Amino acid sequence: MDEDGVRTQDTQDTVVVFDTTLRDGEQSPGATLNVEEKLEIARQLSRLGVDICEAGFPIASPGDFEAVRRIAEEVGPLTEGRQTGQPMVIAGLARANREDIDRAYEAVKVAPRHRIHTFLATSDIHLKHKLKIDREECIQQIIDSVSYARTLCDDAEFSPEDAGRSDPEFLTVALGEAIKAGATTLNIPDTVGYTTPEEFGWLMDYLIENTPGADQVVWSVHCHDDLGLATANTLAGVKAGARQVEVTINGIGERAGNTSLEEIVMAIHTRPQVFDLHTNIDTGQITRTSRMVSAYTGMVVQPNKAIVGANAFAHEAGIHQDGMLKSHLTYEIMRPETVGLSASRLVLGKHSGRHAFRVRLQEMGYGDLTDREINLAFDRFKRLADKKKIVADADIEAIIADEIYQPPEIWHLNHIQVSCGDHSIPTATVSLTGPDGEIRQDAGVGSGPVDAVYK
Ligand code: KIV
Ligand code: ZN
Repeated sequence: MDEDGVRTQDTQDTVVVFDTTLRDGEQSPGATLNVEEKLEIARQLSRLGVDICEAGFPIASPGDFEAVRRIAEEVGPLTEGRQTGQPMVIAGLARANREDIDRAYEAVKVAPRHRIHTFLATSDIHLKHKLKIDREECIQQIIDSVSYARTLCDDAEFSPEDAGRSDPEFLTVALGEAIKAGATTLNIPDTVGYTTPEEFGWLMDYLIENTPGADQVVWSVHCHDDLGLATANTLAGVKAGARQVEVTINGIGERAGNTSLEEIVMAIHTRPQVFDLHTNIDTGQITRTSRMVSAYTGMVVQPNKAIVGANAFAHEAGIHQDGMLKSHLTYEIMRPETVGLSASRLVLGKHSGRHAFRVRLQEMGYGDLTDREINLAFDRFKRLADKKKIVADADIEAIIADEIYQPPEIWHLNHIQVSCGDHSIPTATVSLTGPDGEIRQDAGVGSGPVDAVYK
């Protein structure tokens, strides 16, 4: 749309990915990142193919300003490793006032492609209790802030905060004014994660249908996960015509978090029959990005988290493992390699079957075991699996050593007796039967009880 080509990829079948890990994600309690960590994550987001990186809220603190400025300077120009061929747009968040907007612009302006993202609440709850202004004043502030942002920058996004609980009719008026004032993207946030997919899809449809000038902007969605519906709501918004999704890596964010990037991208990727859309994301970078964000923020990813959880491509049930060994199509809708993992994992535990156990033995180099030996080891494995959650390769090695590769006994230990204490010399008596059947016993002293036994 502008000379920098800021919105050239906003064609009807592309969903633009706006990542807010470094802004909304960093608002997660305890997820604070330092500047170097933010730079490293921004570089990885660029490699991942994120279209727009919301690098922070520059007015929030001098540290936030500096982080956004350095990302704009150091990561803004990068195209290396990006499949899109264009550098990432670097966005800075600003409340709807000149001071915030100036600060955001100062921080992002050095990036070849930059955006000011300004927001103002539109729900009656926020107008009355938080902002203490009426609807008229709200609209005036939207006009003033968006038009001011456009004097600085060609790319201006406006978000009516708490849109999910705002009067839809009032929203069409407020958003129509934002378009007239020059907004290029209108983002609809379900700030408190209140709506259901049906309601949110309806809202997006209604706004796109009824806002004057709706066809001049990119419509965007920004959902929070308070009811666990963020991904479903975002997809409902996309179905209704949104072509920008605001997301975070691992779904981190304020309270229960934001919509997770990996879930949206993989839903669009895996279900072309449903969405018939694409993103610019290099899905092979998803796992690496998720791990980096988890390590730097200290926010552990739950094992059953879709796409990036440790169990997302792990199979334990015997029936599932048997199916997977016959064809991955039986229990996998995505290949692990697609998200940058090397392979699916068959976890050996109490639900595992003989088939998976045999395959693991082969992988570990025990392909020559007889059926009788495998059965012996499998029985031992099942008994151990009842006590231990997961049986590791080292456990299997021990089982094989015990049950199968047991060297013939040459010396038999009859008994050991040790005596020690704080005022005595450690003394041991050992009795062994030798290969000739003769019993040998002796006593010794040492520096400790074990040493005494060996002596
Ligand atoms: O959740 C929200 O409303 C936001 C806005 C600033 C877009 O994060
Ligand atoms: Zn948010």
